[in-house]
This record gives sequence, structure tokens and C-alpha cells, in this order.
Amino acid sequence: MLTTTVGLGDRAYPIYIGAGLIDQADLFIRRMPQKRAALVTNETVAALYLPRLQAALEGAGVSVLPIVVRDGEAFKTWETLNAIYDALLSARCERRTALIALGGGVVGDITGFAAATYLRGVPFIQVPTTLLAQVDSSVGGKTAINHPLGKNMIGAFYQPAAVIADLATLSTLPPRELSAGLAEVIKYGFLGDRDFIDWLDAHLEALLARDPTALAFAVERCCRNKADIVARDERETGDRALLNLGHTFGHAIEAALGFGRWLHGEAVGAGMVLAARTSRQLGHLDDADVARVTAMVARAGLPVTPPHLEIAQWLDLMGHDKKVEGGRLRFVLLKSLGQAYVDAAVPRPVLEEVLAGAAVDG
Ligand code: NAD
Ligand code: GLY
Repeated sequence: MLTTTVGLGDRAYPIYIGAGLIDQADLFIRRMPQKRAALVTNETVAALYLPRLQAALEGAGVSVLPIVVRDGEAFKTWETLNAIYDALLSARCERRTALIALGGGVVGDITGFAAATYLRGVPFIQVPTTLLAQVDSSVGGKTAINHPLGKNMIGAFYQPAAVIADLATLSTLPPRELSAGLAEVIKYGFLGDRDFIDWLDAHLEALLARDPTALAFAVERCCRNKADIVARDERETGDRALLNLGHTFGHAIEAALGFGRWLHGEAVGAGMVLAARTSRQLGHLDDADVARVTAMVARAGLPVTPPHLEIAQWLDLMGHDKKVEGGRLRFVLLKSLGQAYVDAAVPRPVLEEVLAGAAVDG
């Protein structure tokens, strides 16, 4: 088992990474103030892993309240959140009762928000079961539900007491979801970790083949990168924004097509290519750099070309980004491969050229 810590003073917490961790009740119990937990998951993940985790916890004397919600981004809503509150209140869960999120980013985000708000805050443990959740969403304390007017618009910063990433759960992940998770993995390399870019060049196929050693290395490396950033900028007043490489373009793609048509990671993959092209138009990257970003996104099984949108639609949708300040778009771009920065002054003609496809390679 590998362990990384998110260094947030008296709210510091461990990230445990390894195979078979959902059978190890002691990892959970050491972070729970009482031997009672509500275990939130969705119908898909429940069928695969709920009985095992429940049995492990109950075998160690923990009383477990399972709460199973519908599967999908479409259910990351007030209605689902209310159903979780209903179950917690009906069972008289207390301030010391832990909430455990077993699933991908949707379950993690909504359970985290429930934990932040139920009785003004209860202990919370993340058990991420998608690659995306293991390398990104379970770490750092961003919790949320969607609003009809925007994704993740209602939420709270609320850190978990532990993240327990069982790599063996990735064996059942659909290939498309694995590739979507790889977009976030690749993101860490290009935004700030040159050695990891080289490692990914050599090991991307091993990750696609779910090689356990490669997966363990990548998940730990990404979590360590994220933990470092979160420890120095928990509330995203500075460097944390760099984690959004590819996301401003990506969110526009997701919103334009309707959430769920392209997976988040797919949109981020195409978004990273657009960020690289924008960086080249600004003189930071050269053609070989853009080709390297594009090739890695493609090798991960992700789209490199965005769907066709009118320029006005791109600009309108990107204007809803949470990074917008004083009405100005802020893009995470690349000074070089492995060095991201936030640019609030991308000239409109540059954006139009990139978005119109004028800057497409070859
Ligand atoms: P998801 O939670 O929808 O999971 C993807 C699919 O995989 C679902 O159908 C799920 O049931 C299924 N699944 C989960 N684990 C499985 C397993 N082990 N085997 C088989 N199937 C499994 O999607 P996701 O990509 O994990 O997360 C996306 C969500 O995360 C979005 O809502 C996004 O906004 C959020 N997010 C949050 C943060 C953050 O910092 N909080 C960061 C990135 C993304
Ligand atoms: N996924 C972006 C963040 O956690 O800040």
C-alpha cells in the first residue's frame, strides 16, 4: 500500500492507494469517531462492491446504513441530496456518524456535500472507484451538486478524513471511463511535472492495459501532485486553478453538447489540445510541443478534435466558467510542457483563430 498525505494542518488526511483496500476495515475505523457509518453509493457500484465493503465493516463491528442512489451525472441534484438527508435523518445518524462515498466523482461530490451540510458537518471518507475519482475528484475537498443553470454550481470546500483508493476496483471500469480518467492523469504531467510526461510516454499502453504497477505509480503520482497544490491553495485563490488545464474549453464542449454526451475526461482531452494550440499561437509552445500533447491525448483513446461550435457559442459558454473574474475569461495555458500558468488576457483574434480551427496541425 502507498500512502500520501494532504498537508492541511489539523485537517491533514491520508490517501491510501493499493489493491484490495475495501476489505481492510481498519483503514476506515482509524478515521471514524464512532463505529457507525452511512455508506453512499450508486446502483452500479453497489452491485459490484457494496456487499464486500459492508461485510468488511460489519465484520469489524461497524453498524452500516447503505444509501443507494441512481447512477449518472443527471442525478447529481438537490433531489438526490435530499434523499440522502432523508435516509440519514430517518436512521438518526449523529454528528459522529461517518459518511462513506463509494463510487466515482458523482457519488464522491454529492456525498461530500451531504457530509459538509448534514448537522453542519460530519466526518467523511472517500472510496473512489473510477480512475478519474482516484486521481482527482476524491482529493482536495471540492464537493458539489449541479444546478439547472450550471455544473457544480452549488457546493462547499469540505475535506475528507481519508481517501481510500482501491486499485482493484478499476478492473471493472468500462474502457471509455478508463480513458476519461487518463485525461486527468495526463493533465498532471503537462501542467507541472515534466518527468511524469516522460513516464507517461513510456507507460500509457500499460495504463490502458490496467497494469497494476503502472496504475499504482500513476495514481500515487497524481495524488501527490494534487495534494501539494491543495496544501498550498485550498480555496483556489492561486495555483489550484492550474488543475483546470483543458477545462475551460472542455466545460464549453460538455455544455454545448448536453452533459453526458461527451464524458468530462473526453472534453478535457480535446480541451488540453486547444490549450496547447492557444499556447503556440501566443509563442510559448512550438509545433513539436503541440504534436506531443495531441499524440498523448489520442493514445489515451480520447478525442483530439472538438465538435464544431460557432465562435459566439464558445465564448458564451466559456463565459460561465467559475474562473471568470470581472467578466474576463481566464485560461490555463502552457509556458512550456510541464509549466502551466493562468492567462487572463488572451487576445480575441488568437482565440478565434484557434477555435475556428485555423491553428489545427497539419
Ligand atoms: P461517475 O461518477 O459518473 O462514474 C462513471 C461511471 O462509472 C458511472 O456509471 C459509475 O457508476 C461507474 N463506475 C464507478 N466505479 C466503477 C467501477 N469500479 N466499475 C464499474 N463501473 C464503475 O464519473 P467520474 O468520471 O468518476 O466523475 C465525474 C464527476 O466528478 C463529475 O460530476 C465531475 O464534476 C466530478 N469531478 C469533481 C472533481 C472534484 O475536485 N471534486 C474533480 C473532477 C471531476
Ligand atoms: N479538479 C480541480 C480541483 O480539484 O481543483
